[in-house]
Amino acid sequence: MNAPVLSGMPSASPHLAAARMDDIESFYAMEIMREATALEAAGRSIIYLCVGEPDFVAPEAVMAAADAAARRGDTHYTVALGIEPLRRAIAGFYQTRYGFALPAERVAVTAGASGAMLILFGTLVNPGDEWLMPDPTYPCNRRFVSLFGGTTKLIPCSAAENYQLTPQLVEQHWGPNTRGVMLASPSNPTGTTVPPDAMRGIRDVVRGKGGALVVDEIYHGLTYTKATTASPDSTRFTEEPTSLALGEDVFVINSFSKYFSMTGWRLGWLVAPASHMPHIEKLAQNLFICPPTIAQNAALECFTPSSLRIYEERRAQFAARRDYLVSALRTLGFKIPNTPEGAFYVYADVSALSDDSFRFCSEVLHGAGVAITPGRDFGDVDAHKYVRFTYTIDIAQLTEVVARLTTFLKR
Ligand SMILES: Cc1ncc(COP(=O)(O)O)c(C=O)c1O
Repeated sequence: MNAPVLSGMPSASPHLAAARMDDIESFYAMEIMREATALEAAGRSIIYLCVGEPDFVAPEAVMAAADAAARRGDTHYTVALGIEPLRRAIAGFYQTRYGFALPAERVAVTAGASGAMLILFGTLVNPGDEWLMPDPTYPCNRRFVSLFGGTTKLIPCSAAENYQLTPQLVEQHWGPNTRGVMLASPSNPTGTTVPPDAMRGIRDVVRGKGGALVVDEIYHGLTYTKATTASPDSTRFTEEPTSLALGEDVFVINSFSKYFSMTGWRLGWLVAPASHMPHIEKLAQNLFICPPTIAQNAALECFTPSSLRIYEERRAQFAARRDYLVSALRTLGFKIPNTPEGAFYVYADVSALSDDSFRFCSEVLHGAGVAITPGRDFGDVDAHKYVRFTYTIDIAQLTEVVARLTTFLKR
């Protein structure tokens, strides 16, 4: 049968799509978003707590550097692993922030953490390989494995495990085809972290099995434990240690998207063992040619004392928002057994309020004009009990959210 012809152009027939597309799901959050924007277009006031990006934008100096790069014509391809000054600046940041000496040669600048994951899993995954990840987890991680013919085993991680993998869970679930573990600390959607001892234990198990450990540190810089020596009103926070310190065999992913408020600039990085860098470089050349040039030039301004001061002020604001929202949601009947230590998410158990969190999200949207994300997006186990709130809006708007939810839940 001939393909249907529209306006004289042959259109692709559905069977042309690769079989793997059947296994790739859209975000349920997008269904909520679609409903939300339709309601808004019809005149309803909607507050969005479903978007995983900071409300802040890049500091003025970062924008000025982008502008200057564009105007002087610094807009051509760069080398695939990123410009040397930026690789050195990122390596230097590990020294100043974590006291960890990182050779710049181990840093690859990428098109966001997403670009880093595509390159990294392309260099690590063989067809049939299995990767272990926690359930709940950031949904895209699984896609990077399946794109290269691998499979993901999601390991149920409940509140009792702080929604994170433990050495015991990794040991218990490691099978004959398992090749590695990927986790994020702090995590999306829970904001919880893996304690340093547990991370070391996971590294030991993975190392003992001859596998690879990938740690997504994209929410580093957004943790909210106050430094014990700081005065109560100080904005000094204790830093979660980087997993790079656990050994050269640990792969770390990070990004300018979250702490540095640059989601749309599409810039991130990847740190790999020196011996792995030639693979990373080859695949980066072939997949991307290079990370965005203007964004790379701009990012050089991210590590100056004045920019870091701005990011730390924002971290204090996120901490205040978290404290406000977690406490208010608990009062409203949402169960939050573990206070999220970082990121900008609250993963709340709604089982006292509803037996289906997806339906609950829709009801809250229609009844309260508040858009939140259903747990379904992040895993299978207990997903129907959970919703994810983001606190990427200011306290005044969060107060309005709480007022709306209070009215909604009283009905
Ligand atoms: C845990 C996690 N990793 C990676 C990403 C992708 O970030 P990027 O914008 O750097 O590609 C996100 C985005 O939300 C995320 O939450």
